Amino acid sequence: MPDRVLVTREIPDAGLRALEPFDVTVLHERPPERDELLDAVRGVSGILATATERIDGEIMDAAGDHLRVVANMAVGYDNVDVDAARDRRIVVTNTPGVLDETTADVTFMLLLAAARRLGEGERLLRAGRWEWWGPKQLMGQDVWGKRLGIIGFGRIGQSVARRGKGFGMEILYHNRSRKPDAEQELDARRLDLDELLETADFVSVHTPLTDETRYLIGGPELEKMKPEAVLVNTSRGPVVDEAALADALESGQIFAAGLDVYEAEPEVHPKLLDLENVVLAPHIGSASVETRERMAALAAENIAAVLSGEEPKTPVD
Ligand code: DGY
Repeated sequence: MPDRVLVTREIPDAGLRALEPFDVTVLHERPPERDELLDAVRGVSGILATATERIDGEIMDAAGDHLRVVANMAVGYDNVDVDAARDRRIVVTNTPGVLDETTADVTFMLLLAAARRLGEGERLLRAGRWEWWGPKQLMGQDVWGKRLGIIGFGRIGQSVARRGKGFGMEILYHNRSRKPDAEQELDARRLDLDELLETADFVSVHTPLTDETRYLIGGPELEKMKPEAVLVNTSRGPVVDEAALADALESGQIFAAGLDVYEAEPEVHPKLLDLENVVLAPHIGSASVETRERMAALAAENIAAVLSGEEPKTPVD
């Protein structure tokens, strides 16, 4: 009897192809309800999950003793209780390395759109309210030649920095450890968080969500930023205090923001929805055809490896 694998959402075909040797159940396009998930995992050996499912000890226990691997189709794995998995000798994998450039593209898209007021302009035009070209109309902030401050200087942060270099930007970063190779390649300077916030014209957040990074950017941090500064977040919503950000955008404490992630997705703080100076994307950082195929394939290959007694390509530990 082939091992049973649960795929919690509809995923690109490349993932399903890699799971052909197994008895696979795919739930549906929308995220499953908790009760449905608890029921669907019973007796499976592998779970291919996405960031919308909380995979904790309760789910692992509901799956039972057969469960050997949880493969998260995301680089972030804050939705998986890794300690609970370790206690139960369940392998957890994620999908690093295949989405860096795609996520960096979306980061730069948000950075440019927020700085140059694209969302506001498009809304004006679509509403039939664009009456003339104006010498003072929709003046934004230049991007080229400015200071780009990157919080979390891992693969995605460095890919964003490379794009910044292409725009002639000076690269600043804040990271727990120094990154000497990247410093050399990108002529980047490591600063402490306060100094980065005070100096950068653009602040882009690329940390994983952990207990240490929850609300890393809140009211006091936003107060340190320049009034012309733009904040971009494509990491995880709770790294930024959304209510404090909405206040800072409303009061003009910072110029604009570009967000791809939110504290309680798919909810967005109501104040943000009413503000002109924030560009809001629905968590599409990795959503290109090629990258989602690669993420699905990698997650499925990790499941196949563990269930065949081999080492997975990208375990989280
Ligand atoms: C990731 O890979 O972490 C993306 O945000 C999708 O969840």
